[in-house]
Amino acid sequence: MHKKLVLAGVIGDPISHSKSPILHRYWLDKNAINGHYIPLKVQKNDIELVLKTLPKMGFSGVNVTVPHKESVLKLANEITQNARQIGSANTLTFLPSGGFKADNTDGYGFLKNLEENDATWNPLNSRVLIIGAGGASRAVISALLNSGVSKIVITNRTHERAEGLKEYFERKIDVIKWNEKEQFLKKINILVNTTSLGMLGSKKLNLSLSSINKDTTVLDLVYNPIKTVLLQDAEKHGCKTIDGLGMLLHQATPGFNEWFGIKPIITSEIRKRILTQ
Ligand code: ATR
Repeated sequence: MHKKLVLAGVIGDPISHSKSPILHRYWLDKNAINGHYIPLKVQKNDIELVLKTLPKMGFSGVNVTVPHKESVLKLANEITQNARQIGSANTLTFLPSGGFKADNTDGYGFLKNLEENDATWNPLNSRVLIIGAGGASRAVISALLNSGVSKIVITNRTHERAEGLKEYFERKIDVIKWNEKEQFLKKINILVNTTSLGMLGSKKLNLSLSSINKDTTVLDLVYNPIKTVLLQDAEKHGCKTIDGLGMLLHQATPGFNEWFGIKPIITSEIRKRILTQ
């Protein structure tokens, strides 16, 4: 008997760099699912038409990335609590009654990656500094606040944007100036880079860790290169480090589960596959 064909994909512009098709293909094969996960290059103005058309073509859902993560919220029929709190979506599921549900799994992915790699992590004694105030920062802040962390400080090159996030999160976080971040390192035990600084082809982060405590866990959302200069420096200072690949893998699992009906397992094999392709 033929199993029903299930379709999903990822929508963005550009899209050719996305690792998601490799990841989902791997899980489809591992679980012997009759399905496809397709990269779809869609321009800003076409998103509404495309999201109306895809379910008619048999798609169960899609991931969305730049530049659609925020605009899809205006088109959604249902918005999950996480997507609402973060202010953007990355995982859409088409509804049997028409339209789609918008979810954001970035914060979930961040937290899973942290929990999995730092057995000692305890939200109640966490003092966190987050670098950056963009969409990725919003997802990290949201996840940490929901998990019970009460001390979150952010810093951003464009200070007003960080102040904007403070208002967005109802003043539950604090902001320090961009040039104060190095001296602030002695007050924290979790450091997160949410900017693209340190990514292949981007500028360096340029952060001296000389005053960091060695009991600090340092996370970088950048995973290309897998061991960023920030993580190398942190290791030299005796800190625990967590790379960004785990977050990428974990944020993908809820969508796969919704569309294909199985919660995939994250293994060292899939990490290797993503790193070598
Ligand atoms: P994302 O959704 O990935 O978070 P974004 O919303 O464009 O992307 O945010 C990018 C983040 O990287 C911002 O915090 C940005 O700082 P600004 O708000 O000052 O632009 C930060 N960033 C990007 N390039 C930077 C650079 N050269 N120096 C410092 N920060 C940079």
